[in-house]
Amino acid sequence: MANDFDKAAKQYDTAFTHSVIGKAQRKRVYALLSEVLKKQNPKKILEINCGTGEDAFWLARQNYEVVATDISEAMIAVAQSKSDTANPVFFQADINDLPHPFSGEQFDLIFSNFGGLNCLSEIRLELFFKNAAELLSENGQLVLVIMPKNTKWEQFYFLAKANFQEAFRRKSHSAIANVDGQSVLTYYHNPSKTAALASGYFDLKTVHPIGFFVPPSYLEPHFSKKQKLVSFLDSCDIALANSGFLARHADHYLINLQKR
Ligand SMILES: C[S@@+](CC[C@H](N)C(=O)[O-])C[C@H]1O[C@@H](n2cnc3c(N)ncnc32)[C@H](O)[C@@H]1O
Repeated sequence: MANDFDKAAKQYDTAFTHSVIGKAQRKRVYALLSEVLKKQNPKKILEINCGTGEDAFWLARQNYEVVATDISEAMIAVAQSKSDTANPVFFQADINDLPHPFSGEQFDLIFSNFGGLNCLSEIRLELFFKNAAELLSENGQLVLVIMPKNTKWEQFYFLAKANFQEAFRRKSHSAIANVDGQSVLTYYHNPSKTAALASGYFDLKTVHPIGFFVPPSYLEPHFSKKQKLVSFLDSCDIALANSGFLARHADHYLINLQKR
């Protein structure tokens, strides 16, 4: 099950998890996810596209029972190398194969962070919602962090460089994204489209921008020594965290869906 992310796995934490921009965006996700956790109080959480396991460990430290999966063998190996505790459990699984390998098992929350679902076309994403509904318990929820099509930072940055193709690349049906030097086929989904694709099985609860002021992570070289500026941009993001209308203009958005 070799995958585009295998090559990125070794450098992923250095390039993204520990970057100034990556940390700021993840902090926003944690603030919003914490609100959902507090209200829903789930017992069992399935994390899909868990990457190097950063979020699975964060959840396990709060005593949630976490099963964390990713298609990339190398990502799972990095996650497993961080700790040998019984919680979280990590293993390799493709989102497109759900509900296998969990047939019969139920989760209270399914979590997907930072664009794993952007590897799915609209047809696959709709199928994911059907399978996710099967895997969730009665009051189950989804918390998904996805990249939209209209990211203002990206448009301004590339327009300023007169690079029109890059400025609007997210608007195409699919585009090539650079993940730590690896080219990954990516599908961008606006929040309204995601909610529409989910609507057969889920009701929309909330949508929040992640990284409207804090820029996309490929701009890290311009920001890595500007911690104060990033903190300021982060405080602007905090102020507008509940402005759902900005979600489709941010780098990512967090969408919370309730199983019907
Ligand atoms: C940008 S990384 C995000 C990793 C992690 N969630 C985080 O917050 O750092 C996207 C992840 O999605 C995984 N992925 C891509 N397609 C997938 C699929 N079809 N099934 C499961 N995981 C997938 C990749 O292997 C990669 O680890």
